[in-house]
Amino acid sequence: MLTVAVLISGTGSNLRALLDAASHPDFPARVVVVGADRDADGLAHAEEFGIPSFTVPFRAHDSREAWGEELGDQLDVWTPDLIVLSGLMRLLPPSLVARFSPRIINTHPAFLPEFPGAHGVRDALAAGVTETGASVIVVDDGVDTGPILAQERIPVLPGDDEHSLHERIKPVERRLLIDVVRRIATGELTLTD
Ligand code: GAR
Repeated sequence: MLTVAVLISGTGSNLRALLDAASHPDFPARVVVVGADRDADGLAHAEEFGIPSFTVPFRAHDSREAWGEELGDQLDVWTPDLIVLSGLMRLLPPSLVARFSPRIINTHPAFLPEFPGAHGVRDALAAGVTETGASVIVVDDGVDTGPILAQERIPVLPGDDEHSLHERIKPVERRLLIDVVRRIATGELTLTD
């Protein structure tokens, strides 16, 4: 059974979908802990599912490195096989990436390498593209530059705003994430950095 730690910053709707999938007896992975960089609303999903959680507040640390070190120590308590960034809106310091690489994956609301960074949906709209997408990648030291594990195109519709487009992207992200976690757990997919 693959053990998974999930890191979030926000509402955790993708986390919730993974918790739902992983609570099915046939699913080959289990979420063992949920972590956050702030008092994220999504931590309530962990509580509802009886999954332990922790918070390592970014702002309580002098540097990204110091934050990453404590985050790594908290993760190590649970010895996760895989770490899923599901809306964690912080760049991990290289030392933390190196500590767990290539076992950290990330969901992103755009068709990478298009529109990396914190505003993938907003940037796609601003660029006026007619389609964007959703991606699941391996985390490396760059900003959304790691190997792509799964991705799918999603049309931008006339009248879309950031919210409506993001809400249409998220269900695709969830499906891709759950499938990637399942394929890693079964050995169908091997992570490399
Ligand atoms: C998701 O769309 C995720 O891909 C994105 O934040 C959202 C979190 O939603 N992450 C990034 O943009 C990272 N650069 P959620 O909190 O409802 O799961």
